[in-house]
Amino acid sequence: MSQTSPYTIMKIWMEMSLQFEDIKTPLSEKFRSSNKRIYCNGSVRVSPSDCILPVKYKQFADRIKNFEVREDDVWIVTYPKCGTTWTQEMVWLLINNMDFNRATQENLFTRSPFIEYGFILEDDDERRRNVMDTITLAENSPSPRCIKCHLPKDLLPDQLWTKKPKIVYVTRGVKDVLVSYYNHHRLLNGYTGSLDDFAEAFMSESVVYWDPFWKNTLDFWNMRNEENVLVNSYEEMKKDLPGIIRKTAKFLGKEFSEEQFLALAEHLDFSKMKDNPMVNFEEQKKKLNEMFCNDATFMRRGEVGTGKKELSPELAARVDKWSKERIQGTGYPFVG
Ligand code: A3P
Repeated sequence: MSQTSPYTIMKIWMEMSLQFEDIKTPLSEKFRSSNKRIYCNGSVRVSPSDCILPVKYKQFADRIKNFEVREDDVWIVTYPKCGTTWTQEMVWLLINNMDFNRATQENLFTRSPFIEYGFILEDDDERRRNVMDTITLAENSPSPRCIKCHLPKDLLPDQLWTKKPKIVYVTRGVKDVLVSYYNHHRLLNGYTGSLDDFAEAFMSESVVYWDPFWKNTLDFWNMRNEENVLVNSYEEMKKDLPGIIRKTAKFLGKEFSEEQFLALAEHLDFSKMKDNPMVNFEEQKKKLNEMFCNDATFMRRGEVGTGKKELSPELAARVDKWSKERIQGTGYPFVG
C-alpha cells in the first residue's frame, strides 16, 4: 500500500482556513484560575491541529501562517521544555561560524527570535513593555535566521512546506517535560496548583497551552526522514553532546575542526549555560520570583530522569499508561 507523504497531507492543511473554539470546561477553568498570567483571557482550540492557545492567538494567526520564510532559515521547532534554548544556542553558533564573541554579548532572544512570543503575553502584562513584536523581529532579522517556534506543524507558516528551510526538532521524555513545564508555569505564570493538578491538566489535552504533547511530537517524528528535517532528542544531547553537534552541523552543511566542536560542546554544557546571562533568563527570573513569591528557576536541573524522581509512583505510572496508549503502533521509542 502506498504511503501518503507528510507533505501531501500538509498541502491539504494549507488549503484549510483556521477555526477557533472557546474552551471553557471545569478543568480548564480550574487551571486558568491557578495561573496569574497568560491564560487570564481564556483559551481557544484551533482547528486544524486541536492545539490550545491563548485567545490572543487569533489576532496573530494569519501573520504567522503567511510569514515570509527564507530558504536559508533554520527553524527550531519543539514542544516547550524539550531543550529548545539549548538547541537554539547550538544551531545559532553553527550557522554563525561559531561567533562566540557575539553569542556572549547579545541575548539569545534577539539572536534567535521566538516568533509567536508576542501573543503569549496579554496586553496588560508588564513584561510586554519590554518585549517587541516578535513576528516583526523575525521578519527584520538578517539571514541566516534561527527562528524558535512551539506551534504544532499545522499552524506553522505555510511557506515552510514550499521553501523547505531546515527544521531542527527536539524531543524529550514526557515525564521530564511534564515536571519542567510545571516549573515553567510556576516561574512564568505564577502557577499555584500542585504538580498532580498540573499533570491532570497536561494529560487532559484541553488546558495546557500548546498542542497535546504526543500529537506535536509524533507529527515531527513522522517527518524524521525528510531531507530538511532533523529530529534530535534531549536524551541524546545529554549522552553525547559532541556527537549531536557534529550530526547537526552535517545536517546544516557546516564544517568545523574537532577543536571547534569541542569548544562548542563546552559552551553548551549545562554548568556553563546556567551561568551565561545571554541564555539563562536570570534577570527575568529575579523579577518573576518577586512577583509570584516563589523560587522557580529556568535553568533548573538539566538532567534526564527528573520526572521519575519527582512524580509519585502512581502518577508516573498514569503518565506512562497515557503515553503508551498514544504511541501504540507508531514505532516511537518510548522513554520511560
Ligand atoms: P529542566 O527544567 O528539566 O531543568 P526549553 O529551553 O525547551 O524551555 O527547555 C528547558 C529545559 O532544558 C530545562 O530543563 C533546562 O534546565 C534544560 N536545559 C537548558 N539548557 C541546558 C543545557 N545546556 N544542558 C541540559 N539541559 C538544559
